Amino acid sequence: MTFKTLDDMGDLTSKRVLVREDLNVPMADGQVTDDTRLRAAAPTILELADRGARVMVLAHFGRPKGQPSEEFSLKKVVAPFSHVLGRPVRYIDWEGDKAAVATLADGEIAVLENTRFFGGEEKNDPAVVERFASLGDLYVNDAFSAAHRAHASTEGLAHVLPAFAGRSMEAELVALEKALGSPEKPVAAVVGGAKVSSKLDVLKHLVERVDHLIIGGGMANTFLAARGIDVGKSLCEHDLTGTADEILDAADKAGCTVHLPYDVVVSKEFAANPPSLRTCNVHEVAADEMILDVGPAAVEALADVLKTCRTLVWNGPMGAFETVPFDKATVALARTAAALTKEGSLVSVAGGGDTVAALNHAGVAGDFSFVSTAGGAFLEWMEGRVLPGVAALQKD
Ligand code: 3PG
Repeated sequence: MTFKTLDDMGDLTSKRVLVREDLNVPMADGQVTDDTRLRAAAPTILELADRGARVMVLAHFGRPKGQPSEEFSLKKVVAPFSHVLGRPVRYIDWEGDKAAVATLADGEIAVLENTRFFGGEEKNDPAVVERFASLGDLYVNDAFSAAHRAHASTEGLAHVLPAFAGRSMEAELVALEKALGSPEKPVAAVVGGAKVSSKLDVLKHLVERVDHLIIGGGMANTFLAARGIDVGKSLCEHDLTGTADEILDAADKAGCTVHLPYDVVVSKEFAANPPSLRTCNVHEVAADEMILDVGPAAVEALADVLKTCRTLVWNGPMGAFETVPFDKATVALARTAAALTKEGSLVSVAGGGDTVAALNHAGVAGDFSFVSTAGGAFLEWMEGRVLPGVAALQKD
């Protein structure tokens, strides 16, 4: 994997650098509720500014579909971003951008308005690419989490300006290469989450590449049903049991061991600490019960599997972790992975919105080798797909 980084940019004094960041942060009541992406952007922005560049941040916010509006304006992210950077940040809208950009001083940082206010952004329209390119001399893509989009600001610009990977992009690509590109074996993957339908391609790709595939969350129920187990009223995509069977067969042929829970935590209602809560063997789930977490015996066995592995890729929680006590399996397994990582026996890479929330809940996100800022892009990467924003950086 070859791409140029900030180390290859040379003297940046007075250079106008367009930096694609992902500032698509969650907000509630005007406040950023998770500033992970702002913090991920900081090293690149500060380094470029410190090297004398005139830094212009390009980013999207939400899905305005070419319609400018207050709701989707990046203006409200400028103050929190400035706070994270510890530097003043200017805001530049699409009305007077050319004139405003011309007044930027060396080392100054500006956030340009939402790139998706142009309908042509998402179509990778050459006119929009040119519009953006005319503002800068150099292009840095630091937004791995938007790299699955072939948009003007994520892909098109890399073809018309000298293009470089920012520090966050570089860190993501290096970590992901270590996890699935050329990992130390044995490799385990944990794949959880509600629906098997949203991760079919991920599972198909992984069975060819990993030694152990640990399936948890609601999607495990579909696999249990495929094995003829009655999962009661659990979330289960019964129409996909045939596909689940094919995945199990493919795993068998590829020498990948698939781990499904053999004990489970069940309840008649989905609520915190429900009175009908119990743990049972997967063969003993009653018709009016639903599986809400992996059971303790299975978790212990899975921890033993992780102890034999050198690399772990994790996407998706093992149970309904947002509701106690159905967070137990996710927390226990995440803590085992974190401890093995700290000991130096495991390289652990995790990604996806729910996953990061689950690792934060377990208090171990900081102990994983790498936690990706990406949601959709992480999944597409786990499917083995080429991400257009990354491919464009690798063009030379
Ligand atoms: C994300 O939040 O995953 C990225 O910012 C991409 O956003 P999108 O799904 O709207 O393209």
